[in-house]
Order: sequence, then structure tokens, then C-alpha cells
Amino acid sequence: MSLNELQSELAEHRSATSPGLLSIEEKDRLLERSFLGLYRWYVSRSQKTRNWNPNTDFDWKNMRTDHSEKLNTILEGFFAVEQYVPDYVFKLLRVIRRSYGRSHFHIRWGSEEEKHSDMWENALLFSRFRTPEWIENYKYELRSKEYELPWDNPMHMIFYTVVQERATQVNYLNTGLIAAGKSDIEGFENDADPVLVNAAKAISADEAAHYNFFLEGARLYLYYYPAQALEALYDVIKFFAMPAGDLIPRYDKFAEVAAAARIYGPREHITDVLDIALANLGIEGRRALMRGIKRMRNVPTEQGDLHDTAWMCDMLDYENVEQKVKQLFGRINRYEEKTGHHEISPLVFKPSGLTW
Ligand SMILES: [Fe+2]
Ligand SMILES: [Fe+2]
Repeated sequence: MSLNELQSELAEHRSATSPGLLSIEEKDRLLERSFLGLYRWYVSRSQKTRNWNPNTDFDWKNMRTDHSEKLNTILEGFFAVEQYVPDYVFKLLRVIRRSYGRSHFHIRWGSEEEKHSDMWENALLFSRFRTPEWIENYKYELRSKEYELPWDNPMHMIFYTVVQERATQVNYLNTGLIAAGKSDIEGFENDADPVLVNAAKAISADEAAHYNFFLEGARLYLYYYPAQALEALYDVIKFFAMPAGDLIPRYDKFAEVAAAARIYGPREHITDVLDIALANLGIEGRRALMRGIKRMRNVPTEQGDLHDTAWMCDMLDYENVEQKVKQLFGRINRYEEKTGHHEISPLVFKPSGLTW
């Protein structure tokens, strides 16, 4: 072995065992244990506060039957997107099946999304916008195509779901405004409907809870694997599209009407989705992220974590992420103290050891 080779091997060995840095195994154990705790917390919360039924908890018989064509088009689009839920569950489960907490959460998530599809089907039926026969044919047409994941790995998908859930929440919140008669957009003046207000409220509360779960998960990745996580987030933002848009007939029309209604379009995507999600993730703004990753990719990365850290400082408020991760551990601990899990297998926070 030459002196050079010997030196580089020693250097490699040193950086891998720097004091205070967690090993990959330790990080993965912490991530898995956190997801398990978060999943446990989530299920309790979901059962207690959002256990609604799409058929019996809404006054469908009194839904208005004279909504604007535009609003009906939007509700039909919501139904089309939500009804791919078996694909959403099945496809992502294959990718995250090794994680107990994340995969079990995903099944629970699917059981909530399934209600959203049922809810919008009821809206189409009771508004008399579509006949039962029409809906049957539509389902058949939709299900003849199969949804595919935009990314094939757990880290990209957690960032994708952060953005997608926030976007969905924004869609439903803004629909709720129209249903409450609070929209000043032309063409929706006569769409006030208390039944629809309640439907939009229930669904957007679910979407907020989904967003929160994925956000907490995404922060764990950002904290323990910042370089990879920032790259994944960059990719997700760069290529983001709402799910199933390419499968749904007349999707362009739906997207156009939703954008014109200020429910969700490019403008809402930037200000109400990306800017909010990035701030929640501790990212110092969209432009800083896009610039920083481009620079990072132009430089050889053989120096490893410490080198990456220098570039990441501009993009990520790492202290803020750490604080949020600690808060999550605190929330899980308080929950598990009540259930008793804490006594048997406590979740203990470990700093990533990265110097920033
Ligand atoms: Fe949903
Ligand atoms: Fe959702």
C-alpha cells in the first residue's frame, strides 16, 4: 500500500468514526423508533378527533342541487383524484414496507383517504350533478388506468407527500370558502352550501393531520440525513405534479377551473404550499434551496458530511430543525408515558452530532 493510499484510508476511517457522529445504523434505529411513536400518537388522535363517517355524518339530503357547473367540475376532479386510493396505498406500501411505523401509518392514512373518495362521490350524487350510472362508468374508466409513484424511494416520497398533502389541504380549504359564500371570484356567487362547508371542513382537517405526520417525518430525515434530504426535497419541488393528473380524463379542464377559482393553481402552489412547507421544514426559502443544491452538485462531494454542511448552512436552519425534532420526541414521550410504553422502551433523543 502506498503512503497516499494509507493516508486516504486512515482519513476515511477517521471521518466515519468522528466522535459524536451517529452511525447509519443508529440513525436508522432512531428514525424507525420515532416513526413508531408518531404512528401510535397519530392513531389515538385520529380515532378521538376525526372518526367521521362520509355517509351518515353529513346532511346529504339537503345538499343544494343547483351549484354552478364550475364548482361541480371541481368536486368531480376531487373525486377522481381521491378514488385512486387503493393504488396510492399499494404502491407506496411496497416501498416503505420495511418500516413498521411508516407502513402501518400508511394503511391508516389510506383508510382516511378512502373516506374522502366516498365523500366526494356523495357530493356528486346528492348535488344531482352526476347520475349513479354516470359515476359507475366514470369509476370504470378511471380504474382502467393505474397510478405509479413519482419516486421509488422512502426519502423522496416523504417530501413528495409533504407537498402533496399541503396542496390538497389548500384545495379543500379554498373550496370551503366558496361553499361558505366567502369567495369573490366571478361565477361562484351562488354556491353557498352548509352541507359542502361541513364536508370541506372534515376533509381538510384530515389533510392537515396527514401533512403534519409527513412533515414530522421529513424533519427527521432532514435532521439525521440533511444532505440527502435536501437533495430529495429539491428533486421533489422541481418535478412536482399532483397525483393522477395524467390519468384523469379532462384533467386540464379541472385544473384550469380550480386555478381560476383561486382554489389551487401555480400561484397558490408557490405561496400557500411551497413557501409554507419550506418554512415549516426550516428551509431558508425556495430560491436558497434551489441555488444551494445546484452549487452543491457542481462540486465533488468526496469530502463527505462536513463539506456538505458548509453548503447546507445557506439553505437550512438546522437549529430550528433540531428544536422541532426534540419537540416531536417530547410529544411522543408524553404520549408513551400515558400508555406505559415509555417504561418498557423509552424513546431517547440523540443529537445527530453534525456541526453546523
Ligand atoms: Fe384526501
Ligand atoms: Fe391526505
